[in-house]
Amino acid sequence: MHIYEEDGFHLLWPMLFMQRMLPGNEAANAEFERLILQREAASTDLTTGYTEQSFFASSHPAIDWLRQCIHKSAVDYCQRAGVDYPIDWTLQGWSNVNRLGDYHDPHNHPYAYLSGTYYVRVPESITTEDNRSDVRPSCITFYDPRSAVNMTAIKNDPQVEPEFTVSPKAGMILLWPSFLMHYVHPNLSDEPRISISFNLMLKNPTDYLPEQ
Ligand SMILES: [Fe+2]
Repeated sequence: MHIYEEDGFHLLWPMLFMQRMLPGNEAANAEFERLILQREAASTDLTTGYTEQSFFASSHPAIDWLRQCIHKSAVDYCQRAGVDYPIDWTLQGWSNVNRLGDYHDPHNHPYAYLSGTYYVRVPESITTEDNRSDVRPSCITFYDPRSAVNMTAIKNDPQVEPEFTVSPKAGMILLWPSFLMHYVHPNLSDEPRISISFNLMLKNPTDYLPEQ
């Protein structure tokens, strides 16, 4: 345990979030769309039965490509976070198809270290002037895990915004700590919204415990 005794400013309780467009995604996305819609047609609960899926247990070239992109992204994420040693993890993934009105209520991803989503297809939304002005179809929102710290925030202090929203595009990958609560806004389109979510679980997590 460290006790700080010197004068200074410290940014406490950091949180790292990664957003990145993957180059070369167009060819892979066409394959993913075909593959996922095919699997959806043969399944009764493709999206909600995510624990039954092993999306990455395949040698399909597009899946190989995404597996490598996730690995590279996770290594970059860890390095940026200051984790400057190799980590051994297991990748588990599942595909999601959201149709008109589908959303995913707030949740986190227990028993994983890092979680993420790769977007295959995000359709244009149909909204009208009658919709609420703050409607954000097909977006994903993340919530500050320090419950209610925004309660007494004032202009320009770092605690003002309790949520962080991304408008995903096809080819985008997001990566975040698995404990972070997030919510997938409704798809307001007749076209399907398709994504691939994943968890990275540490192998032998006690190997990485900090010295405190
Ligand atoms: Fe999720």
